[in-house]
Amino acid sequence: MKKIVVLISGSGSNLQAIIDATANDQHCRVVGVLSNRESAYGLERAKKAGIETAVVDHTHFDSRLAFDSALMEQIDAWQADLVVLAGFMRILTDEFVQHFSGRLLNIHPSLLPKYKGTNTHQRALEAGDTEHGCTVHFVSEELDGGAAIIQAATDIEQGDTVDSLIQKVHQLEHQIYPLAVSWFASERITLENNRVFLDGSPLGETGYLYRV
Ligand code: GRF
Repeated sequence: MKKIVVLISGSGSNLQAIIDATANDQHCRVVGVLSNRESAYGLERAKKAGIETAVVDHTHFDSRLAFDSALMEQIDAWQADLVVLAGFMRILTDEFVQHFSGRLLNIHPSLLPKYKGTNTHQRALEAGDTEHGCTVHFVSEELDGGAAIIQAATDIEQGDTVDSLIQKVHQLEHQIYPLAVSWFASERITLENNRVFLDGSPLGETGYLYRV
């Protein structure tokens, strides 16, 4: 049984999708939810599901490394096999990333390698893109640059706005993140030399293409 720890800063709708999807999964369960903000609604979701929570407030630390060390300590206390970033709004140090190398996942709201960083929906609209989406990837030291596991796309239609795209992409996120987690938990995906293999076959740069 693989132990999952989820890191959040806000609403935690991806956390909820993962809690729901793993509720009856024999391979994994969410054992802890960690937030850097006391007010994150995701903490309520965790409590409702009977999952342990912890808050490590970044404003109480005077360096990134001191904050990350406190995070690592809590995550290790939960003996995490997999660490899932789900709307965790802090940039992590290389030390943290290396500590959880090969067992640290993130979801990013763009079709990576397009639009690393913030304001992805706005940037896709401004570029006149015809599609947009999200990507689950292993985390590496490069921001939003780790090997992709799975990606889902939606058409950008006339009249779409930042808000409508956020909603469409969130719906996709709630499908592909639990799937990536279940693949990891059942050891269907592996990471070798920054390349992801699914059931032994190498995936391309954008990961597995999920079709809705
Ligand atoms: C998602 O859009 C995700 O792509 C980004 O942060 C957001 C988290 O949303 N990394 P939620 O807290 O899971 O609702």
